[in-house]
Amino acid sequence: MATKKIYLYPLWLRIWHHMNAILMLSLILTGISMQYSNPDYPLIRFDIAVSIHNISGVLLTLSYIYFFVIILFTSIGRYYVMGQGFFKSFLIQARYYILGIFRGEPHPFPVNEQRKFNPIQQISYNIVQHAITPITLITGWAMLYPETIVLNVFGYSGIMLTSLLHVIAGFSISVFLLIHLYFITVGHTVASNLKSMITGYHEIHVDDEEDIKTNSDKKTKH
Ligand code: HEM
Repeated sequence: MATKKIYLYPLWLRIWHHMNAILMLSLILTGISMQYSNPDYPLIRFDIAVSIHNISGVLLTLSYIYFFVIILFTSIGRYYVMGQGFFKSFLIQARYYILGIFRGEPHPFPVNEQRKFNPIQQISYNIVQHAITPITLITGWAMLYPETIVLNVFGYSGIMLTSLLHVIAGFSISVFLLIHLYFITVGHTVASNLKSMITGYHEIHVDDEEDIKTNSDKKTKH
């Protein structure tokens, strides 16, 4: 089978991604420890967990600003733009993940220079990067400086609501991470997506692209 390599993950993106993954894991572990541990038998000693959580949160904010500025001002941002017909493409990809993948059908949206993400990756990366992570960071900073939080919101404690939002957003990132880890294993081979994120190069299997073309030609003729 003919293969072609394309450079999809530049070094700056890989450095950001791996820093982000390490910091997120540190935040999730220390966050869970603070939330659930018995003070007498903590998973991580409480004061240590608080310090690691705060330092990781500050570093994550810097790394997020770095990511956001580059996405905003370079052509890399185009991969995150959800174009026309997105909903239909989303359904095609969902059908593939539910059925097609188990029947050995070809990927409906294989990776190429113009399209790095399939529609489900695109929407989930957008939600996690542009909504959930900022909410987690803003509520985290607010709790670092609690004097900035409004004390009373319609009769409820502002600090309680901020901390609730922070925990819900952090929990959502943990769920995203589990789903992300599963989906990165369903590339051409189990390890091919991980390899791409480490080397920067994604291997395109030319026959996959031809399969897709033939399938869609057949569909339009019927
Ligand atoms: C152990 C943890 C992680 C591993 C092994 C991992 C692995 C990967 C791999 C292999 C890719 C490339 C395939 C693809 O584009 O789907 C990727 C992309 C991506 N991951 Fe992760 N990831 C981890 C944690 C995270 C976390 C915690 C986040 C965010 C909360 C995240 C956000 C992203 C984003 C936004 C992309 C697309 C980057 C781009 O190309 O613009 N990852 N990850």
